[in-house]
Amino acid sequence: MKEAMQGELSSSLAAYRPGWSLPRAFYRDETVYRADLEQIWRKGWLFAGHGCEIRNPGDWLTLQVDTDSIIVIRGEDGAVRALNNVCRHRGSQILPAGSSGSAKRLVCPYHQWTYDTKGALTFCRGMHEFDRSGFSLKRVSCEMVEGLVFISLAETPPPFDSARELMAPFLRPQGFERAKVAKTADYEIHANWKLVWENNRECFHCNVNHPQYIKANWDHYNADDTSAEVRAAMDRAVARSEAKWAAAGLAVSHRETGMTRFPDVDVWYSANRTALVEGWVSESMDGKQVSTLMGAYRDADVGTVRARTLPNFWNHSSCDHGVSTRLLPAGPRKTLARVSWLVHEDAVEGRDYDLGKLMPFWQLTSEQDWAICERQQRGVDSTAYEPGPYSTYKEYNVDAFVRWYVKTLAAGASV
Ligand code: FES
Ligand SMILES: [Fe+2]
Repeated sequence: MKEAMQGELSSSLAAYRPGWSLPRAFYRDETVYRADLEQIWRKGWLFAGHGCEIRNPGDWLTLQVDTDSIIVIRGEDGAVRALNNVCRHRGSQILPAGSSGSAKRLVCPYHQWTYDTKGALTFCRGMHEFDRSGFSLKRVSCEMVEGLVFISLAETPPPFDSARELMAPFLRPQGFERAKVAKTADYEIHANWKLVWENNRECFHCNVNHPQYIKANWDHYNADDTSAEVRAAMDRAVARSEAKWAAAGLAVSHRETGMTRFPDVDVWYSANRTALVEGWVSESMDGKQVSTLMGAYRDADVGTVRARTLPNFWNHSSCDHGVSTRLLPAGPRKTLARVSWLVHEDAVEGRDYDLGKLMPFWQLTSEQDWAICERQQRGVDSTAYEPGPYSTYKEYNVDAFVRWYVKTLAAGASV
């Protein structure tokens, strides 16, 4: 059976042509989906949530990765840990999946075995002369970077330090550790997770599909349509912003129109700060500030910070709010997305921000993207689908994503 699956995967990989979209099987076959879970989702680092969602000792959230439910909990000692949501007695799930709450102790609902916030078994009914020490909840690797929580189901996860080193200077001024989630929206996208990423990695579709997004951002111009006027406008915005950013000690990177290059075949993380168009200080419907300044910002004109990690996270942040998207796979043709809007922890709804102004920019942009992905999935489902060629000017990051994907899959699957 395993050999048959390997064979099927090998022939799918052999059919891939660099520079072209993937063969149909990659977007809909169970075998490929299982390989994606094993080689990518169970091996890499996954964004789990924001540390500020579990601010106090005992606060927890659970997330579902394939068959596994994971608890992310802040311990009595203030540290954030990840634990398998599986009782060490007879395996009952302890906390509800895809949920959140707060508890001093984790009590299994079946026979009330009880664990502390570090996962140690502290009480087990019905057992005499029993050494509890070998029955802690199983640990899952967990790392934090500037208030973002990542987990890995791998026994030996890839190094996290290089990701932290690169992302921290961009994320730090945003102050996610002193933020709060103002609102979340959950979506069930009827599309393979790779289609969601491929769409994320190009702004070729933006002009027609994202009337709000393109007002604020430069990404929709590429090498072949950055006119002298556009270049001059971008240069003005960058110069103006950089003068302020340098004075504020903010790290600056992307100065071009078009999207920053990401990923590389070996690099799954990225972050940058780039200018917004003239007159815009926030990714909001009219470009105006929609909440109080976050983190270290003393001026609204700080452009936009963007971070992304494969396979499941991206964030766009303005001076006053940040928006995080977390993906989780839910089948060959289904992906769950959670979009979270974050503001300063002291911001008060109704006084400092209004959800009606905070949310629409990214709510509309996200929902426009999900509709695009679902439409593409329906097309790819057809037997008439065959891979098409990527534009080297506008889809270089889609090509880069697919190359990363194929390399990661092939390396792990040893095919
Ligand atoms: S399965 Fe958890 S206490 Fe029995
Ligand atoms: Fe989009």
